[in-house]
Amino acid sequence: MSKLKVALIFGGRSGEHEVSRNSAYTVAQGLKQNYDVFPIGIAKDGQWYGPIPLSEIPVFTPEKFNEHKITILPIPATNGTIYSLPDLKPLAKAQVFFPVLHGTFGEDGTIQGLFELAQVPYIGAGVLASSAGMDKVIMKNLFAQAELPQVPFLPFLRKEIEKDLQTVLQKIEADLGYPCFIKPVNLGSSVGISKASTQEQLKSALLTAVHYDRKVIIEKGVEAREFEISVLGNDEPIVSLPGEIVPGNEFYDYQAKYINDNSTLYVPARLEEGPMQKMQDLAIKAFKAIDCSGLSRVDFFITKDTQEILVNEINTLPGFTAISMYPKLWEHSGISLEYLTSKLVKLALEHFAEKSKNVTTFTSYEQDR
Ligand SMILES: Nc1ncnc2c1ncn2[C@@H]1O[C@H](COP(=O)(O)OP(=O)(O)O)[C@@H](O)[C@H]1O
Ligand SMILES: [Mg+2]
Repeated sequence: MSKLKVALIFGGRSGEHEVSRNSAYTVAQGLKQNYDVFPIGIAKDGQWYGPIPLSEIPVFTPEKFNEHKITILPIPATNGTIYSLPDLKPLAKAQVFFPVLHGTFGEDGTIQGLFELAQVPYIGAGVLASSAGMDKVIMKNLFAQAELPQVPFLPFLRKEIEKDLQTVLQKIEADLGYPCFIKPVNLGSSVGISKASTQEQLKSALLTAVHYDRKVIIEKGVEAREFEISVLGNDEPIVSLPGEIVPGNEFYDYQAKYINDNSTLYVPARLEEGPMQKMQDLAIKAFKAIDCSGLSRVDFFITKDTQEILVNEINTLPGFTAISMYPKLWEHSGISLEYLTSKLVKLALEHFAEKSKNVTTFTSYEQDR
């Protein structure tokens, strides 16, 4: 039997373009035994290129592939066909699409919308879960609805901050106090995030954050240890043991994540059975709260003074590099990279089959009865 073709999509129009290349390279290593991998690189301007040789995924830049511009079309009849540009000749047909894209235009529901229109199976969260997971305010409102414990927060629009900074400052000081964290609502990788301990710092942090997004979230700062749990599955997901991160910088900022390499990961986390299980239970609740599917990493705090477990966030396309927490936690739980990536493909096909049961027109339902 011939192998299924998996279109592996990486790069993209996001601040996490480079991280995505490294994640995709790891995913490709997991897939290549069992699948026919068709790597597609999305350049920073949004142009698609492919196939990219596996070994070039980590260093992909578009210049070398100018003759290999490609696209898919947002219509079901094309059945996963990948076309060359500009002549629109069929080049290959993928049975499943694997976006390994972090951040904007990849993790936020936009490319998932394209897959839905094209009616092709794809790995990971759908449109709703992706966009809900990406917007920190919507995510936290859904978590609050599901009664998950989290830090107090306040959302503001860029317009409000620009129009009446004084009122915004007063509200933050009255409701949250210092230290607080200021974040653009729709970014990842700690981009645009600052910690403020004084009004001066808060002002400048707000101005930084509005630079990145029309919405900003301010959170009460907690002194806490940080933990992460990997989730895998659709309607009945399984969870890994937690891992712990000890950031090398004052908090787990962009530098600590990708540049300094001075953070320490503990796999598994140094935690007692009780809090460990509670955290695992919360990870599943967080996954379900945004109606997620496929995979996610749920991140937690445990406050140093009261030992309270708080959900920080869910990442629907977590880092997947060779040293990332998501695959590492599974490896520790006895799930190899090869098994993990195959399982993700199977979950995508199952989820697609489940959605395909939905009747989309009134008349066809009536006729079937
Ligand atoms: N409310 C908070 N209290 C204490 N530390 C925080 C808080 N929010 C964020 N941090 C620190 O900032 C890091 C990045 O914040 P996070 O919300 O996870 O953003 P991103 O989505 O970019 O990863 C966290 O890993 C943690 O180190
Ligand atoms: Mg984070």
